[in-house]
Amino acid sequence: MKIVLIGADGQLGSDLVKTLREDEVFPLYYPKFDVTEPEAARSVLLDLTPEVVINTAAYHRVDECEDHPKESFQVNAIAVRDLALVCRELDVPLVHFSTDYVFDGGKRSPYLEDDPPNPLNVYAVSKLAGEFLVRQVLEKYFLVRTCGLYGVAGSKEKGPNFVERIIELAKRKTTLRIVNDQWVTPTSTEELAQRVSELIRSRSYGLYHLTNEGECTWYDFAREVFCLLGQEVRLTPVDSFTYGAKARRPHYSVLENKRAKEIGLRDFSPWDQALRNYLLKKGHIQ
Ligand SMILES: NC(=O)c1ccc[n+]([C@@H]2O[C@H](COP(=O)([O-])OP(=O)(O)OC[C@H]3O[C@@H](n4cnc5c(N)ncnc54)[C@H](OP(=O)(O)O)[C@@H]3O)[C@@H](O)[C@H]2O)c1
Repeated sequence: MKIVLIGADGQLGSDLVKTLREDEVFPLYYPKFDVTEPEAARSVLLDLTPEVVINTAAYHRVDECEDHPKESFQVNAIAVRDLALVCRELDVPLVHFSTDYVFDGGKRSPYLEDDPPNPLNVYAVSKLAGEFLVRQVLEKYFLVRTCGLYGVAGSKEKGPNFVERIIELAKRKTTLRIVNDQWVTPTSTEELAQRVSELIRSRSYGLYHLTNEGECTWYDFAREVFCLLGQEVRLTPVDSFTYGAKARRPHYSVLENKRAKEIGLRDFSPWDQALRNYLLKKGHIQ
């Protein structure tokens, strides 16, 4: 399959490059290819004539987005619409990624694709706008909501992923404060990339939740990291208010992969198993 991959050196993008190695992938890198430059982007895509376009680009430093709504909407909504318009012109599907943060956390059981969203922060509003614009422009699309990504490549935009960040912090600090009132499903970009590869071959277009299985708080996740590393680190559970992040986040944003199961994608592994695989791959454990 001839695939254009936008953001090919990001966390997810890097794993997509590896997973799609049997396909004809055209990796595009920022800033040479910038989704916020619609004319240049259109011309590149029309020249490449892909069969599918995968967009992993995002402005997703969630707290920073609060002070930069314009940039958030530029990358996460307006540019996504522009990509969708080119995909319509080429008559090819767009694969685009959204977030668990489109929900407000009031449900307290895993969110299904057709649960009503109610985003709590600027980032999430801009991502939801991106979803709506894709759906408004295209009939053939794969919208994938996911959660708490970590991958071997790390994210240049956001800096090291959560796992690497706490491993580094533990070298310098005696105690780590970790949020214990946000329930999520940390998700391996390696596994997500594999499911996306299956999904694009399905022709079952639409909105999907794709995350690892199970749920935990960031505190539970951190505890599991140090448990697997066999390292004793003092962790202090704190609530979101005490932690004091600028953007509000849902207390519960666990997603159910309902539609993925219905169309027969392979199951994701439980989050703790995926974490173990990641630590092995990174050489943190043997
Ligand atoms: N990370 C998470 O925890 C998480 C959770 C839920 C959903 N998501 C969504 O999942 C998707 C992938 O996330 P990720 O963690 O893989 O992100 P990432 O590591 O930051 O990768 C994003 C890629 O897009 C590139 N990019 C940034 N701005 C661009 C622009 N204007 N034009 C073209 N390319 C641009 C980045 O380049 P540079 O690296 O050079 O900036 C990078 O290669 C995003 O849509 C994100 O919103 C992420």
